[in-house]
Amino acid sequence: MAEHVRVVEVSPRDGLQNEAAFVATADKLELIRRLAASGLRSIEATAFVSPKWVPQMADAAELFPQLPRDDGRRYPVLVPNLQGYERAVACGVREVAVFTAASEAFTRKNINAGIEESLQRFEPVLERARADGVAVRGYVSTVLGCPYQGAVPVSDVVRVAARLHAMGCYEISLGDTIGVGTAGAARAMLQAVAGDIPMAALAVHFHDTYGQALANVFACLEAGVRTVDASVSGTGGCPYAKGASGNLATEDLVYALHGLGFDTGIDLATLVETGSWLSAKLGRDSLSKANRALHA
Ligand code: HMG
Ligand code: MG
Repeated sequence: MAEHVRVVEVSPRDGLQNEAAFVATADKLELIRRLAASGLRSIEATAFVSPKWVPQMADAAELFPQLPRDDGRRYPVLVPNLQGYERAVACGVREVAVFTAASEAFTRKNINAGIEESLQRFEPVLERARADGVAVRGYVSTVLGCPYQGAVPVSDVVRVAARLHAMGCYEISLGDTIGVGTAGAARAMLQAVAGDIPMAALAVHFHDTYGQALANVFACLEAGVRTVDASVSGTGGCPYAKGASGNLATEDLVYALHGLGFDTGIDLATLVETGSWLSAKLGRDSLSKANRALHA
């Protein structure tokens, strides 16, 4: 039987958070419905962050209760603090993701706190989540470079990832927030983190600014990772990471994974249609190469 790679779809959150024009809640729900129909089983649905900081996610509490409760899928949401956690759980959320970074400067810009302060903020979130039976994922951003600090030492990535894991995050997603990494650096970073955390508890999250995301994923698959984040149509970017472009397009990832003989449970044709639908809604061409090839 083919080996499975878990794809975590982040377009409803990472893909849309940077859009200037507000995407209607009904359209976000339709996107999630289509993503689910393509076979994706983990779909990051929204973020319970401050609406002043990220206006595009201001409808989180309206959107989440309209998602199916018992379709066997996971719909994690971002929470930056206990306030976000409480808002999320009140809406029926069963999985959250906390997020910090390996670079002090980016963390301050993104969540108005230093790395240590952010980790301390997460302690009560993890404590409550444990008591509530809510799963917690942890993100480490700027793992291969920071828009403000520049180079980021691998030892800082390892330290922050290990703290999140020790705190109780079941999985740590390693984010190249501004897409500056190349394959050798990505592999070395992953292997260093895997020295402290089991590979099975690691995921990779590449933005595609320099067109390196798929090469980076390949290097990390070779090193043993089996969970990859991606965003349909190559949407995405962080409003507080200057120069960040979209994520790796899920269609391109799935095409590559199937070509490598991995099973994903995802139907590429349905996914490509979903990407075309989203691009039409956003009024621009898809950034997915697989989409362009299949529509040529
Ligand atoms: P702050 O201003 O320091 O917060 O922001 P505060 O605690 O001082 O509160 C200020 C106001 O915000 C108060 O309201 C709070 O109630 C409210 P006021 O009294 O002024 O009316 N507030 C909230 N409202 C709703 N939900 C909440 C919440 N918390 C406070 N959870 C804060 C600190 C963390 C809140 C803010 O900086 C924030 O929301 N940041 C989020 C930034 C963000 O979402 N960035 C994008 C996601 S990260 C990413 O994209 C990277 C990733 O994809 C991986 C990768 O690519 O590397 C994950
Ligand atoms: Mg991201």
